[in-house]
Amino acid sequence: MFKLPLFKNSTSLLRDWRTYSFVCLSTVLLFSCANKEKYVQTLAQPEQLTISEGFVEPVGFYDAQPSFSWKLPVDASVKAQSQYRIVVASSPDLLPGNPDLWDSGVINSDTTNFVHYEGNELKSRQRVFWQVKYWNERGFDSNWSALASFELGLLSSSDWSAEWIEIEQPTPLELDKFDTPIHIPQYLRTTFTADKSIKSARLYITAKGLFESFINGNRVGSDVLTPGYTPYHKRIETLTYDVSKLLVSGENAIGITLAEGWYAGRFGPKRHWHKKRNITPKALAQLEIEYTDGTRKIVVTDKNWQATQQGPLRRSSLYDGEMFDANFSLKNNNANWHEPQYETENAPEKWRSVQSSNIDSDVLLEPKRHFTSKNKQVLAPVSLHKVDGKIIFDLGQNMVGVARVNLPMIEGEKLKIRFAEGINSDGSLYTKNLGSAAQEDTYVAAKSGVVDWRPQFTFHGFRYVEVSGFDEKEAPQLDWIEGIVQYTDFELTGHFTSSDPELNQLQSNIEWGLKGNFLDIPTDCPQRSERLGWTGDALAFAPTSLFIADSHAFWSAWLQSIREEQFDNHGIPVVVPNEVGEIVQAGWSDAAVTIPWDVYWRTGDERVLKENYTMMKRWILYHQSQLENGVSKMWTVGDWLQPYSTREDSRRGETDHGLISTAFYARSLDIVARTAKVLQRTDDAKHYASLFEEVKANFQAAFFDQQGNIKQGQPTQTSYLLAIGFDLVSDEILQAAEANLMKQFEIAGGHLRTGFLGTPLIAPVLEKIGRQDFALELLFKESYPSWLFPVSQGATTMWERWDGYTHDKGYVKKAGSLNHYAYGAIGQWMYDRLAGITPLSAGYKEVRISPIVTTHLSHAGATYQSPHGEIKSYWFLNQGELRMEITIPPNVTATIEVPSFVYVKNSVETTNKIKKLKGLLTVNGAALNVDSGNDIQINKNPQFSAGHYVIRVSKK
Ligand code: BGC
Repeated sequence: MFKLPLFKNSTSLLRDWRTYSFVCLSTVLLFSCANKEKYVQTLAQPEQLTISEGFVEPVGFYDAQPSFSWKLPVDASVKAQSQYRIVVASSPDLLPGNPDLWDSGVINSDTTNFVHYEGNELKSRQRVFWQVKYWNERGFDSNWSALASFELGLLSSSDWSAEWIEIEQPTPLELDKFDTPIHIPQYLRTTFTADKSIKSARLYITAKGLFESFINGNRVGSDVLTPGYTPYHKRIETLTYDVSKLLVSGENAIGITLAEGWYAGRFGPKRHWHKKRNITPKALAQLEIEYTDGTRKIVVTDKNWQATQQGPLRRSSLYDGEMFDANFSLKNNNANWHEPQYETENAPEKWRSVQSSNIDSDVLLEPKRHFTSKNKQVLAPVSLHKVDGKIIFDLGQNMVGVARVNLPMIEGEKLKIRFAEGINSDGSLYTKNLGSAAQEDTYVAAKSGVVDWRPQFTFHGFRYVEVSGFDEKEAPQLDWIEGIVQYTDFELTGHFTSSDPELNQLQSNIEWGLKGNFLDIPTDCPQRSERLGWTGDALAFAPTSLFIADSHAFWSAWLQSIREEQFDNHGIPVVVPNEVGEIVQAGWSDAAVTIPWDVYWRTGDERVLKENYTMMKRWILYHQSQLENGVSKMWTVGDWLQPYSTREDSRRGETDHGLISTAFYARSLDIVARTAKVLQRTDDAKHYASLFEEVKANFQAAFFDQQGNIKQGQPTQTSYLLAIGFDLVSDEILQAAEANLMKQFEIAGGHLRTGFLGTPLIAPVLEKIGRQDFALELLFKESYPSWLFPVSQGATTMWERWDGYTHDKGYVKKAGSLNHYAYGAIGQWMYDRLAGITPLSAGYKEVRISPIVTTHLSHAGATYQSPHGEIKSYWFLNQGELRMEITIPPNVTATIEVPSFVYVKNSVETTNKIKKLKGLLTVNGAALNVDSGNDIQINKNPQFSAGHYVIRVSKK
């Protein structure tokens, strides 16, 4: 690689850069020097204003101490920010001139992200307005940004005057075949009069269970599976909706449907759900109305509400699905149950009073701190076929969410809708990998005709939908079904593409792994009777996810749940929210340390480190409690699902468990030391860094001999990957350890033989030891086990096992989940190295554009919506000529490394694996000091700032 060094280092380089940048700008950025003054005098305003972890104009916001972020416009006159000013006020008319809450003053800084609010204290319900402006690198200022706002939710339990309500019902509840109480969904309602003209209204609402709410016949919001999944015994998230437009002056009705969900239903392992016997779903709501005359009215959930379980929702379970019986209609007087005209007196057999309970003093009620889940995408079936009179629709894509049916039925008939990720060879649904989860919805028709329905309080993992019980006189149509894809409402921020359709399918599978498993919390799988927040899977996938989607808030919220679930002995549960008991596990629980760092590194937000620092340090204490003679004895399931493992429980991999646990102790120490440095805790930083060195020495002494061989347990790829990847062997034996790692690959016939812990390290470690060529070989391999093997077998998502299904053998006995994102961790290397976009400092403020170029591909690249704006890096290889197309956003500096060679596909001889690129190097058409005819040479090149660059190494 030819590095393009910092121009700051030398004045002569600076001179070169000026000449060079003039050429670039005039050719690429399409503005002329004659217009220069005009541009600099009216700098375009900052854009995309967000607060804290990327929230846009939130209502019911959780954070009274927010931070502010903005992006500089893509404009020829703006390379970087030199100063900024933020003004914050309680009313829009006060801005920008009279900010009554905070004026940052003009701050000399190039920071555009996560600037902390330092103004007057903010309170629950408060509406806050803000604007920002910046000065560019030449000292010219911009216009003020457009006005942005946020409104705080109810920040503490004392803001609530509502009570938890639920239907009065006889106990004990009936049990199902799993011995789980059956919670028939509840309908809760009240009516009230708004006797003045309404200025605005907010509905603050949550549930122990899942809810949807309605006002005057209209659904409130479009979120699904609210309030989401937190450690309910510690914290329940609340939602806020602006319902000003749903209310009327006069009579109003509010209704809530309530189901068991994660809170009260059969969820998690049996020993846990059996404890849920006395737990029943409850709802909490507080409607606050502000009249135009300034007075207020509050309507709360209390004993005056009414409830029924005689509505059409008969059963709703996350694992087992939903049952809707249209005969249980809740309509009269031409009105639905959530409209004011509906008369409960006309249906006295249905409506009962509710029982109420006080807000728990030890359970926090806090506004949701990440995005809600929504219906994000709709998939139409690609085909249908008939098996045993049932119709099976194929959506062509394994997905997570629900199916909407729109099909003909006959009165009284029962429509059965079943879901599966695969089909057997006879065309029937493959459901063996679902555990005890039935994943089955039922609709009972009250009249003949077309039924249009989708469930409210369940989700399924599926590609195939089987329906039976429809009107068989009608010929099945593809449009009878659609798949509604549900996941946390973030934007996809990273896009990777290449010339290889299989690699692109892998990328698509990685992306669908995220869509399928980021449903309020990160889960291992979305289909079987598990769907839990396994920490190890999250540890593997977090860096990849942060590129693919704006998952900053999602991770920060889940980290809060991890903090809340940390045991008194400092251990971190293996599953969060904890549904499995007191299990702590090396390589899994370490997510409590690695994920805050990953989030910080990819976003630049220091708060995630501050918030989690105490937890991280406590986690180190737990590690220390597990040491014996400097080596960790911490429990671990090991390198989970390593192929060809000879261990008795083959799922647990062959790598020595003490080696794994000690390696992760060291890894956590290393990250805590780096965190302490960022947080300027100098003493801590020194302390953890020296502990790291100590553990490194212990690790090497315990597990390696002087020839770099593993001396305890079996030598495996993962043992060397951990040692080299976590920097745990000394320089003296490093080379030998590297050679031993390569020997392990040789023994495996050039294949990977790693599980959940080793696999994410393969490509980065091979690169660290200078074997990118082999990393590429592995990445493009199609034989089992490999990333492209499932792709060759038709996978549309990442699988739990590399060979879950094969064309010749069908589903293996323990196929496992076909939607498990952990092996998708390779995505990070594809984006960082194949596309070549790597952060050099936290939050992509400085980036390195340094793609690995290979003849496996003729082009590859990625676009990433970074915290500063769009970064692009694409390369094209055509007959030995290389073209790179790069975009750097404002306020970012890039070191661009132009590859000096290409990795040649399938070359047996090591010497032929690398082919030098020769020729003339140009940037935006201008030759850079090039010694043409020989290898390309770059002598004097600057760091690159905002702009678009086309770099060529051409033969001429
Ligand atoms: C989960 C995994 C998890 C593992 C750990 C499995 O059942 O699906 O993804 O990490 O257990 O034991």
